[in-house]
Amino acid sequence: MFKVAILTASDTGARGEREDKSGRVIKDTIIQLGGNVVDYAVVPDDLNSISEKLMYFVNEVKVNLILTTGGTGLCPRDNTPEATLAVIEKQVPGMAETMRAECLKKTPHAMLSRAVCGVRESTLIINLPGGPKAVKECMEVIKPALFHALELLKGQVSDCSRRST
Ligand code: MTE
Repeated sequence: MFKVAILTASDTGARGEREDKSGRVIKDTIIQLGGNVVDYAVVPDDLNSISEKLMYFVNEVKVNLILTTGGTGLCPRDNTPEATLAVIEKQVPGMAETMRAECLKKTPHAMLSRAVCGVRESTLIINLPGGPKAVKECMEVIKPALFHALELLKGQVSDCSRRST
């Protein structure tokens, strides 16, 4: 079972003025997939608040996967991709590109997502958009490759070419 942390970036959520429906969607999806949500936080949209919490999840909680929601668009306070880039050591561009490409089939607004996916140590970090419907759609897209990504990071698969799928 893999360990997951959820990070919601939202000024209104951090002030307790908005219910975090997107965090709930992520949690439900991870449970359905057999993952274990071990930590969860709502932070304001400051770059430092987001990157510090990401580092905490990587270094202290030592999760396999962090899913963020919110702050990937073009508003002045949308800082999640920059905070993620400050933390990751390697990008996984295909995951972010595929989310954008598949979601474009549902809404042209998907092209406005600046989401980033990448790895710090053995933790995979994935930015998801802020809306619960958008989160659901993006998670459907990444699901088929998620387990394999986490197996690779855990060192459980060393030779992809031997796999049949
Ligand atoms: N992706 C999907 N699947 N469905 C959506 O409705 N909304 C987009 C995009 N990605 C959307 C989506 C919109 S409107 C924006 S502005 C960006 O995600 C960034 O959203 P965020 O700022 O809430 O993170």
